[in-house]
Amino acid sequence: KKDQVIALDGPSGSGKSTVAKMIAAKLGLIYIDTGAMFRAAAYALQHTGIDFTKEKLEPAENQLIEKFFHDHRFQFAPEPGVLILLDNLNLTDVIREHHVSRLASQVSRHKVVRDFLKFWQRDIVKDRPAILDGRDIGTVIFPNAVLKVFLTASAEERAHRRTEELKVRGQTDIDFETILKDIKERDYVDMNREIAPLKKAEDGIELDSTGKSIPQIVDEIVGLWEERK
Ligand code: C5P
Repeated sequence: KKDQVIALDGPSGSGKSTVAKMIAAKLGLIYIDTGAMFRAAAYALQHTGIDFTKEKLEPAENQLIEKFFHDHRFQFAPEPGVLILLDNLNLTDVIREHHVSRLASQVSRHKVVRDFLKFWQRDIVKDRPAILDGRDIGTVIFPNAVLKVFLTASAEERAHRRTEELKVRGQTDIDFETILKDIKERDYVDMNREIAPLKKAEDGIELDSTGKSIPQIVDEIVGLWEERK
């Protein structure tokens, strides 16, 4: 039996979260922003002082990270909006800062982190119908999902969207070129990591959002879900 889940994967800035929120509202699914969970983990793990840019962590570092996850309380509330708490500290806004994107991308390469996130993601969903956006939802987290969509867009379009998003948040000190460069770098890291690399699931459907409106993409995915659920 298939999981009543929409797995929405794709690179950063492809419009996943906007699309996922709208679909969740339309179909009455819970929405899980797994990128936010990786960001929260990355933000919190800064306290360990570990250098996550290196290829492999030492056994002692892995133990420290496991202990860190064990000792702290991570909470994710899908409704009404996305709320992320670490020991009751609200991380919802800080995890959107530009430097946290980079940290998340570095931290997420490591197995010890992905194992924790896998457990956390499945635990939140339990058996409820849900839409999750991320990188490995269709390939690793819910390989049995009813519907798997791989949402893409050109790097330029994604960088443009990110620039606008940061502007709205009041972060104007980073220019388009820097964001484009970072997006390409993150794509590379996400697609080439050893564990759970970003890629379309074999039975996934690729949708390119370049030049399409958000409602158009939402309607396409809702249509696919109605056919399959
Ligand atoms: O989606 P978002 O840009 O918020 O994700 C931040 C980073 O977290 C990504 O660049 C990626 O490295 C990591 N991530 C991941 N797997 C997911 C979601 C996010 O590796 N399911």
